Amino acid sequence: MAPSLRIFNEESESPKLLRVGTRLDKYRIVSRLGEGGFATVYAAYDTIEDRRVALKIPESRYLENSQTIDDLQREVRIMARLNHQGILRLKDARFVDGHFVMVFPMGEETLADRITRRIARSTAVDYALQMIDAVAYAHEQRILHRDIKPENFILFDNKLIQLTDFGLARIQTTAKHVSASGTLGFMAPEQAMGHPGYRSDVFSLGLVIYRLLSGELPDYPFEAPLPGYQKLRKGLSSDFVALIRKAIDPVPSRRFRDAVAMQNAVSRIRYPLSDRSVSQQLGRPVTVSRLSQRRAA
Ligand SMILES: Nc1ncnc2c1ncn2[C@@H]1O[C@H](COP(=O)(O)OP(=O)(O)OP(=O)(O)O)[C@@H](O)[C@H]1O
Ligand SMILES: [Mg+2]
Repeated sequence: MAPSLRIFNEESESPKLLRVGTRLDKYRIVSRLGEGGFATVYAAYDTIEDRRVALKIPESRYLENSQTIDDLQREVRIMARLNHQGILRLKDARFVDGHFVMVFPMGEETLADRITRRIARSTAVDYALQMIDAVAYAHEQRILHRDIKPENFILFDNKLIQLTDFGLARIQTTAKHVSASGTLGFMAPEQAMGHPGYRSDVFSLGLVIYRLLSGELPDYPFEAPLPGYQKLRKGLSSDFVALIRKAIDPVPSRRFRDAVAMQNAVSRIRYPLSDRSVSQQLGRPVTVSRLSQRRAA
């Protein structure tokens, strides 16, 4: 009992960070990008492929416990199976010199960074449609994300947005016993009570989209008037606004049952933007073809 208590003591020594220049197999650490709940992300150079990658490396204390290793392996296997344009591809995952290294394509920035600057309405809506498409794909495969938030959407050129960190929130919570830190952030109220589900992913997704399109993050329990609501409506069709509101309903049973249902509702909206000439040009080819496949099915 005692050793695991020591391992999970949050006051234990700070995680060992890898120095710039360190070689891990064919990767060379270039810089540290940031830290999340249980891992550090580094920009690295792939010396064989001659390009930059993002390495996500869990703190070593998570590798001292067989339960968290099992959890990690299970989630990595799930991530490796996901194959979708809107989901960040896991390029590789392996042990190198005692570190567990997850390798991802290197993005330009996160959605959290991007929303601090102005985004054209049509671009923001295009992102929202790609995000819904990605989560719908995951839910179709019966996979929950559990930590949908702007930091976990990575932007690439050509206005491509990809969701990362599938299932990793589960490892964080089992390993750390997340303390009730007060703010819910993008988490659904029932998930904060320990009951994540498809509907809680829908909630988080809806809230990220609300934040993207309004510039504001409403506080639970979302009493009208919602902050930023006028801004949210600007340029959007009333159908699309209603869809976002439905996704963030505090009562789970009033939301979409999963992102597939949300995406089906989106596909029935002909014009997400109130300016129809712009709406018609929206959607990247893949999104459109997936939607039309869905309609045909
Ligand atoms: N593939 C990537 N390309 C570019 N930057 C990335 C990539 N993956 C992660 N990052 C950067 O690294 C930071 C830390 O990521 P990490 O996933 O560890 O933390 P987080 O998303 O803030 O929290 P969580 O642990 O809940 O996922 C991100 O906020 C982002 O800035
Ligand atoms: Mg993350």
